[in-house]
Amino acid sequence: MAKRVVLAYSGGLDTSVAVRWLIDNMGVEVIALAADVGQGGDFEAVRARALAAGAVEALVADVRDEFARDYCVPALRANALYEGRYPLVSALSRPLIVKHLVAAARLHGADAVGHGCTGKGNDQVRFEVSTRALAPDLEVLAPVRVWGMTRADSIMYAYDHGIPITATKEKVYSIDDNLWGRAIECGEMEDPWAMPPPGVWSTTVVTETEPRDLIIGFEEGVPVAVDGERLDLVELVDRVGRTVGAYGWGRIDMVENRRVGIKSRETYECPASLALILAHSDLESVTLERDLAREKARLEPRYAELVYDGLWFSPLKQALDAFVAESQRFVTGEVRVHLEPGSARVTGRRSEHSLYDDGLATYEAADSFRHQDSAGFVRLWGLGIETWSARQGPGALNR
Ligand code: ARG
Repeated sequence: MAKRVVLAYSGGLDTSVAVRWLIDNMGVEVIALAADVGQGGDFEAVRARALAAGAVEALVADVRDEFARDYCVPALRANALYEGRYPLVSALSRPLIVKHLVAAARLHGADAVGHGCTGKGNDQVRFEVSTRALAPDLEVLAPVRVWGMTRADSIMYAYDHGIPITATKEKVYSIDDNLWGRAIECGEMEDPWAMPPPGVWSTTVVTETEPRDLIIGFEEGVPVAVDGERLDLVELVDRVGRTVGAYGWGRIDMVENRRVGIKSRETYECPASLALILAHSDLESVTLERDLAREKARLEPRYAELVYDGLWFSPLKQALDAFVAESQRFVTGEVRVHLEPGSARVTGRRSEHSLYDDGLATYEAADSFRHQDSAGFVRLWGLGIETWSARQGPGALNR
């Protein structure tokens, strides 16, 4: 039986109730750990709430730089979009949070880690599989999965136990927010036909109407500059998100396949990550050799699936990271993204390592392509087809 648990703490209703519930029902000491992954908010208030709920210690870890550098950037270099659309916002933050839960458990002599995920989602999978990978000796406590309380019950529980919360019975959305984007679930959007109410959107609302260009600079697949100004990663991602979001671009409305077998209607706002992936993959179109580009494109969905499915810390994911890193050696250059209300599109790309050869591509006088080589090449390319047609008759084509 666990004696001391480090709980991943958000400051919301569930994890606040979880602090007290773990103490009362599992007889453990609770250390609350809140990770700042760029969600914003008042972390002093979060700390105070954890202590008021009964935690013996409340820690805040500012992991924004680490999140950007070691989680968002590898995903960006892999153009990672789950089911072709979702840039893995929550899926990326969970393994990092686990890393810090485990470190805190070691530092404070805890024998368990805990999370406030339900039994129906992906996040429990990510928390627990990551913990198994990093610290198989630690127990994992998942109070929300076992306590069987509804949202109204939890609010009553908080009230009865004097746990300070800001939740109300009307607040129906489940929101997860970080530097890479924002996920909004539940409420009326559980009906996949229902249009998301305007109030769910916060980072992708049109406030700019004047069209503009945004130039994103990359070095070896890592974004380093915006409009020629070098920025540190967290600031850069934030800047891109604000700029693009102000044009109302970056929303996703999809039904996705959860790891636990449920189809789920999800809405996301991901102006920063979607714009960066758009620009990055475009830069690859001029800097990656064809076979490398195609093999990489084949592996990208697999990469996204592994991350989504909680396998951030896994041998295949690590091997794919090595492949992706090697592929990025020459992905250096700039991409111009044109912004208008409701749209972001690439209108130009350039690189000192570009494989785009003017002499080969041009139809003008500077043409350096050896036209005479094409006749023999095309003849051999079609030789098998010619032989097939001659032997088995052109009629073989007319089935
Ligand atoms: N469906 C997304 C995922 O599995 C978002 C999850 C958001 N989590 C939350 N607690 N609202 O990655």
